Amino acid sequence: MSVSLDRELRAELAASEREGTLKQLHMIDSPQGPEVEMPGHGRVLVMSSNDYLGLAAHPEVIEAGVEGLRRYGAGTASVRFICGLFAPHLLLEADLADFLGSEAALTFSSAWAANEAVIPSLCDGESWILSDELNHASIVDAIRLARPAAKIVYPHADVDALAAALAKAPRGARKLVVTDGVFSMEGDIAPLPAIVAACREHGAVLIVDDSHGTGVLGASGRGTAEHFDLQGEVDVTVSTLGKALGGAAGGFVAASRAVCETLEQRARPQLFSNALAPTVACASRAALAVLRAEPERVARIATGVAALRNAVSEHGLAPLGGESGIVPVLVGETARAIAASHAMLERGVFATGFGYPVVPEGAARIRLQVSAAHTPEQLERAARTAAEAVGAAVVES
Ligand SMILES: Cc1ncc(COP(=O)(O)O)c(C=O)c1O
Repeated sequence: MSVSLDRELRAELAASEREGTLKQLHMIDSPQGPEVEMPGHGRVLVMSSNDYLGLAAHPEVIEAGVEGLRRYGAGTASVRFICGLFAPHLLLEADLADFLGSEAALTFSSAWAANEAVIPSLCDGESWILSDELNHASIVDAIRLARPAAKIVYPHADVDALAAALAKAPRGARKLVVTDGVFSMEGDIAPLPAIVAACREHGAVLIVDDSHGTGVLGASGRGTAEHFDLQGEVDVTVSTLGKALGGAAGGFVAASRAVCETLEQRARPQLFSNALAPTVACASRAALAVLRAEPERVARIATGVAALRNAVSEHGLAPLGGESGIVPVLVGETARAIAASHAMLERGVFATGFGYPVVPEGAARIRLQVSAAHTPEQLERAARTAAEAVGAAVVES
């Protein structure tokens, strides 16, 4: 054991604590939902969960997971190509492909792993990768793992810059354009119509990470492409099973059969990491079935977002604009976001403060997230509490 390593790390952690930037993890002692039991804080209103559709503790989702555990045990105990896979994996993949209108789908143990599968596997030494500067960390890291001929990070949502960069790519080179559908820290939606047009003009492949769009955007929750009436125009959709679709864990790729089969053959997270737990495959199928049967849940998110945005503004805060389930309220310094988050929790509302390095220095924020399960009263309380807490954090800082 290295004593000096521990000493150095302790000093760094202590410095973060002194600066007020140390993250604190909170224990939850009940299933995820609009309210949870939090030891030391009692019953707390949750505004920081990705359980957008309110399905994490849905009886049919739980029952399907339990049934999957009973029928298949804990898991494959190896990667798919070594030890096989269970029927629920294939059934879930068929359901996801059918839902998103793709030829095929392939599941992974996380959307993080799915991005790390897609981007390096589709990139060759001649390829150009073009990526929005605010793309999720898993995309940033996946691009680091790929070895493209050129890596262009274009300014956030700047399609003119994207098109100008695409125009410079050599003719025969494969061009991969990667964007979040909904940007997780800003809550804004990628300008997909213009991105699709640029990709088509320049013969580029469009990869959209719709982890915060799936189940949230579009009349039936099919995500960012449905929101813009562009279904069928995204070449590769990456998304998560760890947010709207049950909230357990897991990710998937929805794309052509050729893409999915290539990933099955080549992608390192597929070849060297275990398959999704069958419990999760079964629970996620049930979550998707509830979404399809009850699309009104998606409409409830939109109504809740509008109500929360109104209430936040009425209480004197200025949320960043957007239509997704994410409503960020900028507060400035990291320490202030963390202090405001603590002050909210003291008042019985759980909303995480995000600071550097997750967001740029000086742009720290409280991120509020709306679920179909929130009541109007809960959203009003969240807005009022956020305003009080941000005010209190000013006085304290
Ligand atoms: C845009 C985006 N992509 C990927 C991920 C990773 O998802 P997972 O938890 O399934 O790895 C997240 C999670 O925060 C995300 O917001």
